[in-house]
Amino acid sequence: MQVPLLDLKAQFATIEDEIMDAVACVLKSQVCIGGPNVTELERAVAAKYGCAFAVAMSSGTDALLSTMMALQIGPGDEVITTPFTFFATVGCIARLGATPVFVDIDRRTYNLDPALLHDAVTSKTRAIVPVHLFGQMADMDPILAIAEEHGLAVVEDAAQAIGATYKGRSAGAIGTAGCFSFFPSKNLGAAGDGGMVVTNDPALHRRLVTLRNHGAQSKYFHHYVGGNFRLDAIQAAILLVKLRRLDWWHDARRRNAAYYNARFGGSHIGVPYIAANACSIYNQYVVRLKNRDELLDWLKAKQIGCEIYYPLPMHLQPCFAYLGIRNGCFPEAEAAAQEVLALPVYPELSADMLAYVADSVLAWMPSAIAATAN
Ligand SMILES: Cc1ncc(COP(=O)(O)O)c(C=O)c1O
Repeated sequence: MQVPLLDLKAQFATIEDEIMDAVACVLKSQVCIGGPNVTELERAVAAKYGCAFAVAMSSGTDALLSTMMALQIGPGDEVITTPFTFFATVGCIARLGATPVFVDIDRRTYNLDPALLHDAVTSKTRAIVPVHLFGQMADMDPILAIAEEHGLAVVEDAAQAIGATYKGRSAGAIGTAGCFSFFPSKNLGAAGDGGMVVTNDPALHRRLVTLRNHGAQSKYFHHYVGGNFRLDAIQAAILLVKLRRLDWWHDARRRNAAYYNARFGGSHIGVPYIAANACSIYNQYVVRLKNRDELLDWLKAKQIGCEIYYPLPMHLQPCFAYLGIRNGCFPEAEAAAQEVLALPVYPELSADMLAYVADSVLAWMPSAIAATAN
C-alpha cells in the first residue's frame, strides 16, 4: 500500500463537477480579477468566523506582509514571534526592515510560550505575531493581555488554522488582524496561491483594501506604496465551493487524529497535545520522538508520506545570521526541530490506509530500544 502525506486528487474527485462549473462560470464572465466571487468569499469567511471585515489576498505571505505594512511596521521596529514556524512569518517582518525578536515555544503545543513574552518586550516593540501551528491556536489570552499592557498590535498568523478555536473564539478573529493561507495543502486550499486578512478594525480594513491594489484609493491615484496583492476570481470561485465542505473536512481530520491517538497511546510515540480550551483543525498531525529520522526512513521505505515541519528554526536560518542568535538560545524550538514528524491525516484517508500507517509506525522499534531489548 502507498499512503501519501496529502492526496489532493482524492479531494478533487469528490468535488470535480462543482469546481468545473464554478471555474467555467468565471471564464464565461471574464471577470478575472476581483468581482462577485472575491466579494462573496470575503463575506462568507468574515461571517463564518465572526469578523467584521475580510480582505482576500494573493497569498498567506502577502496577507501577513500587507497587514504589517498597514500597521506601518518598518525600520527601527521590533516584532515578536516564534522561531518555530514557516519562513513567511519572519520573512515578512524582515522584508519591512523591522527586527524579528524570537520567543521560545511551549514544549507541548509548539506555539509561542506566553510566559516568556514579557521579557522580550522593549520600547521598540510594535507587534506580536503568534502562529497557530499545525492547526492549534496559541494561548491567546495572555498574549492579548501583554499586547494591551504595552499598546502592541497582535497579528495572528492563522495560515494553518482557519476554523480552529480557542475558548470558543475563532482563529484570526481575536487579534488586531488574522492572516489565512489558501496554499493548496492548507485545510482550505486553492488551486494555486491565495490568502486573506480578517479584522474588526474599519481603518485597518480600508488601508488593506488600498494596499492590495498598489495603494490606490481611486484608479491611478496612489496614497500609499502598496502592491499587487489581489486574489484571482478563479481561486475565489474554487474556494467558495470548498468552504461549504470545510467543517466536514476538519471533522474527518479530527477523527483520523483520534484514531492515531488511540493506536499510539502507551507507545514510545508522543501524540499531539491539544489544550483543553483549544479545538485543532489538524492541518498537520505531528508526532514526537527521539529517533525521529529513523522512523522517517522506515516510513518512507513503507511508501508512507511523512515530513518534518520544520527542520531548522528561524533563528538558525542562514538569512537571519545577521541577528547574531546562536544555537542553544531557543532550546524548545531546537528540540522540536529534531523530534517532530508529520503523518498523513487528510480527510480522504481510508480505514485501511489509517491502519497501515498506524501499524507501520508501531512496527518500528527505535534502535536504542531494540538494542536494549537484545
Ligand atoms: C505558518 C505559516 N505562515 C505563513 C504561510 C504563508 O502562506 P502562503 O504559502 O499562502 O504564502 C504559511 C504557509 O505556507 C504558513 O504555514
